[in-house]
Amino acid sequence: MEKPIILTGIKSTGTPHLGNYIGAIKPALKMASDKSNQGIYFIADYHALNSVQDPQAFRKYTLEIAAGWLALGLDPEEVIFYRQSDVPQLLELNYILACVTPKGLMNRAHAYKASVERNTKDGLNPDHGVNMGLYTYPILMAADILLFQSDKVPVGKDQIQHVEYARDIAQSFNHTFGGTFKLPEHVIQEETELLPGLDGRKMSKSYGNTISLFEEAGKLQKLINKIKTDSSQPGEPKDAESSTLFQLYKEFAETDEIQQMRSRYTEGVGWGEVKKEVFYVINRELEAPRKKYQEFLNNPQAVKNILNKGAIKARNLAEKKLSVIKEKAGM
Ligand code: ADP
Ligand code: TRP
Repeated sequence: MEKPIILTGIKSTGTPHLGNYIGAIKPALKMASDKSNQGIYFIADYHALNSVQDPQAFRKYTLEIAAGWLALGLDPEEVIFYRQSDVPQLLELNYILACVTPKGLMNRAHAYKASVERNTKDGLNPDHGVNMGLYTYPILMAADILLFQSDKVPVGKDQIQHVEYARDIAQSFNHTFGGTFKLPEHVIQEETELLPGLDGRKMSKSYGNTISLFEEAGKLQKLINKIKTDSSQPGEPKDAESSTLFQLYKEFAETDEIQQMRSRYTEGVGWGEVKKEVFYVINRELEAPRKKYQEFLNNPQAVKNILNKGAIKARNLAEKKLSVIKEKAGM
């Protein structure tokens, strides 16, 4: 029997931060290491193109994201790892799927609807600033998922609707042309909590409160020193659960370390001490990957070679799958 296919796309729209790592990258890497599945992981650069339209930044993000995943241990021999724009079959399928997708489905997609609502509120034309890449974003995502007959699709909560759309579009095609596509399921990492940023709100690019995943050690300690605390002094008991520093610590420390840290809060540990410990556990986990990441950035050709090898595997598979799909539709 063929192994179940686990597929996920990583949009290359910025430099990854610790929140992305804890919430998305780390759980996906864990899943990729499970040998009972066939992992397919790709850089969704076409999906980035509707917002990143500066070629230099575009290239930089693709390289950084690829280098990041490789540095953190994604094994390109085990999983198929490629760049979406290296697989032209996806765009053929994108068009075929567009022809069985009702326009109303796109009108109801969250990202598009949010833009329309924002524009209406601001008194602008509802479609102001909306390009067709954004509007048809869910169809390309359905093509990503359906081309490879994916079984499971790990995503963040904001992407569930898109996976459901892929199912709807698959059903629409199956209904029109006969059983062709498997219906994919989304997988959500429920257990990971939202990592707070420097100001205590959710760590997010849009709040400018992030710590980059591969920040160099000195800068990392400086950023941690900036994290907001209350004004309690060393010796005064502190509440661990409401502390941003503790929430960060928890995600990187071992179970016994977490327990000890909780007691130290009760005993009134000083904030300066906690900041050193938070740095220690984060740095412990990321020191080796950071080194590898720098090596990849200094040798972009090595990253390109890996992506090119992955693209060959992906295209071979895509070609076979696509010919079956086209055949069904009479081509
Ligand atoms: P941002 O909010 O910085 O724009 P994205 O929306 O690009 O981040 O998120 C990419 C992935 O990282 C998603 O799967 C999301 O669930 C996860 N993620 C983002 N921020 C956090 C966070 N602070 N804590 C945990 N997971 C996060
Ligand atoms: N839309 C996803 C995001 O913004 C990225 C993505 C593109 C994706 N194609 C995919 C995720 C296919 C899973 C499967 O994060």
